[in-house]
Amino acid sequence: MTTTTHAPAARSGTSAADIAFHYDVSNEFYALWLDRTMSYSAGLWDGVDGDPADADTLARAQRAKLDHHLDLAGATDGSGGFQLLDVGCGWGGMTAHAVGSGRVQQATGLTLSPAQHAHMTELRMPGVVPLLESWDAHSTERPYDGIVSVGAFEHFATDGMSAQQRLAVYGAYFEKCHGWLKPAGQMSLQTIAYDDETGPDGPVGRFVAANIFPGMTLPRLAEITAACDRYFSVTVLTASPDDYARTLNSWSARLLRARSQAEELVGPEGFRRYRLYLRASESTFLRRAATLYRIGFRRRDEPLPRPA
Ligand SMILES: C[S@@+](CC[C@H](N)C(=O)[O-])C[C@H]1O[C@@H](n2cnc3c(N)ncnc32)[C@H](O)[C@@H]1O
Repeated sequence: MTTTTHAPAARSGTSAADIAFHYDVSNEFYALWLDRTMSYSAGLWDGVDGDPADADTLARAQRAKLDHHLDLAGATDGSGGFQLLDVGCGWGGMTAHAVGSGRVQQATGLTLSPAQHAHMTELRMPGVVPLLESWDAHSTERPYDGIVSVGAFEHFATDGMSAQQRLAVYGAYFEKCHGWLKPAGQMSLQTIAYDDETGPDGPVGRFVAANIFPGMTLPRLAEITAACDRYFSVTVLTASPDDYARTLNSWSARLLRARSQAEELVGPEGFRRYRLYLRASESTFLRRAATLYRIGFRRRDEPLPRPA
């Protein structure tokens, strides 16, 4: 394993309280408008048609996304007892699919949300190990064969950090992943990123930061590539903003369809706030103010020299 040199002393991303503010609203509420895998990130819509409010349509796009990331992480058919780490596992859709499909023998999922962790623990799925733990506190005796992280990188830095601080945090993440992976191990990352000049200062960014996702900030592509380069080579890079726009459109339609149940769970104001967030975020992707990256990595077994 490599020694950790730029890990932050204390956790520097979205705080546990801010994570709970968003993710611990109510598992029942999220179940109303997410798909049955409880995926809370963009699906992969290539070749998926149908009514966006339909549960099966959304589930098909989400399953395609899960399989795509397992491909990028090198999980093929489970032979050899594949060990997977899912950083930011949500309600466990990826870990359940990875093990349930037979592609992975054991899937460890990290989340900071007590409600998500409780949901996964109650399911007691053999081969799935849910941990209520931040990535920067995680360690493992047994190296992983592959790592996936979908929709969590957006929480690793916080608003107000300098460019240098963000780079240090992202660099610490890739250094950790390098230490957790077996030689030549593969990894995938799905993250939203700023893609125009407004960045966090756009109106949607400000609304979402104040009302929906406090304490988070998005990376830019140049920060990701600068942070990973020492430890990983990039094998695949795709930008798919329309995948997020379609997913948000589907969530929004499904939330509207479940309005009365949603209002019972989170009140009319909660319903209104979530609908606004989903509609406004969809427009952010359609306007290309933000984009969605899916990136595949291969571990550099000899890290590159540190830049002078
Ligand atoms: C938008 S959800 C995505 C969940 C899941 N990957 C999916 O696609 O449905 C973000 C997840 O990242 C987790 N997360 C945020 N910061 C984290 C950290 N520092 N360490 C581990 N997990 C974190 C949250 O608890 C949440 O489960």
